[in-house]
Amino acid sequence: MSVFSPEEIAAIRGRFPILSRVVNDKPLAYLDSAASSQVPEQVIEAMATFQRTTRANVHRGVHRLSQEATEVHEGLRDRIQRLLGASRREEVIFVRGTTEAINLVAWTFGRQKLNALDVVLAGELEHHANLVPWQIVAAERGARVEKIPALDDGTLDFEAYERLLDSLPVKIVAIQHVSNALGTIHPVERFVQAAKRRGVATLVDGAQSVPHMRLDVQALGCDFLAFSAHKMYGPTGLGFLYGRYELLESMPPWQGGGDMIDKVSFSGTTFHEPPWRFEAGTPHYVAPSGMNAALDFVEEIGMERIAAREHELLEYAQTRLREIEGLRILGSAPHKAGVVSFVLEGVHHYDAGLFLDQMGIAVRTGHHCAQPAMERYGVTGTIRASFAVFNTESEIDRLVAGVIRLQKVFQ
Ligand code: ALA
Repeated sequence: MSVFSPEEIAAIRGRFPILSRVVNDKPLAYLDSAASSQVPEQVIEAMATFQRTTRANVHRGVHRLSQEATEVHEGLRDRIQRLLGASRREEVIFVRGTTEAINLVAWTFGRQKLNALDVVLAGELEHHANLVPWQIVAAERGARVEKIPALDDGTLDFEAYERLLDSLPVKIVAIQHVSNALGTIHPVERFVQAAKRRGVATLVDGAQSVPHMRLDVQALGCDFLAFSAHKMYGPTGLGFLYGRYELLESMPPWQGGGDMIDKVSFSGTTFHEPPWRFEAGTPHYVAPSGMNAALDFVEEIGMERIAAREHELLEYAQTRLREIEGLRILGSAPHKAGVVSFVLEGVHHYDAGLFLDQMGIAVRTGHHCAQPAMERYGVTGTIRASFAVFNTESEIDRLVAGVIRLQKVFQ
């Protein structure tokens, strides 16, 4: 039996105005939520209402609007603390997105921690956002980034990982929870615990996991975790960094500016406590109203049911796509999130993307900002369909029909 009845699915879809759009004379089939999920009406409405009624800068004014805006902003910090199971609200830092969160850690903690010849270990499937910042900082410090090799099924080689931890001067492990390119759910807790036993710091890229499953940073044991609002039915330009407070306290500021200081004079500046030390300048203060509404949406439906529905869609998509000759799915890990990546014999992924768009089907094609992962599996890119709670089996049927037509045209 399906997680939702057809009526419930129709009701969920009805909450997303964009899903009634027509693209190239066809109803939109949006299968690109790993890039950005769509937003329900309540998120759009919450942000519009905030703009109409409350818009003002946060943390700055004693006037009523500023106080109300600050309440929304800081209220969201409490909510993210609860969402992640952080031990205190000050462990949540507002950033623009996962990329900025990881850059923040690399440029503060990483720069402080890494010395010449030290090593950062990163998974072979990492998104560039969890690789390039480490490479830049490592180069500056005379350190280097080494890979945790991936296996043929899209999982990471845990034994090789432990050997690397034991044989190299590893200071930081930077690891994704879920692969955006293949959908693998890595047993990240095991990787974190192995690093912890050896006194190595850990950062988890939760961009593709936090929106799709319940997790708890304390159970995970990681030092840092990053994710973005726009992949969780929320607004763009907002993300969160969780950091263990003891570490945040010892980290220098990253960007300087308003709001992150204690006292400023020409003879020197002292800095605010975390998290505000890491939040220079005016934040995207409209976005929290939308993120609150996005979290309401997730809570109303229930994260367990969202995860179960996405799993159902994944299984259906994989079964149907496997029936197509000349189609190869990349990644057969035992645990996968709602992402299916595939290549088609004789068809370039770019052509496939354009062709499917003509049929109203939105998928992502290319290297998915994970070029080392593509290299590992001997491809330059893939066609990727990714799911959210609003997707349907009939959209997957349209994808399958589109791929079959595409093969006929290109072969
Ligand atoms: N990281 C996003 C994706 O995988 C943009 O598509």
